[in-house]
Amino acid sequence: PWEPARASDIIAGLTHKEGATLLMLQALQQAFGYVPQDAEPMVAQALNLSRAEVHGVLTFYPDFRREPPGRHVLKLCRAEACQAAGGDALAAHAETRLGVTFGATTADGAVTLEPAYCLGLCATAPSAMMNERVVGRLDAVKLDALLAEAQR
Ligand code: FES
Repeated sequence: PWEPARASDIIAGLTHKEGATLLMLQALQQAFGYVPQDAEPMVAQALNLSRAEVHGVLTFYPDFRREPPGRHVLKLCRAEACQAAGGDALAAHAETRLGVTFGATTADGAVTLEPAYCLGLCATAPSAMMNERVVGRLDAVKLDALLAEAQR
């Protein structure tokens, strides 16, 4: 859950670092699972930036979440090697199976579907990551099993 005091500590600890804006946003996402809207003015104030500038950085990078994720996060690799190995069909399968598009969370809060742009597992494409676990040689059957496990 969002804890402003914890966010303040995180921000204060990074104020003097190079590239502090990104570092702060990353650390906030790490701590809370997303970057809450209320954190934007806090980062802006700490770095003497406008809120719009912080918002611009936040929205520029697709890796930042602005909503809390579901209980599980499935990242499907959408980069070239995985696409060439059937990634598009898998992505479509995942969207249909979950009833959400990329970037969204299932209505039951179980799974957030996100794209990844190369997980470094091109040799075992198509690849995905379920929470912190990487999965290679993914196919529809494996994907269904992963999702069934997550939605249990
Ligand atoms: Fe998918 Fe590299 S392109 S893991």
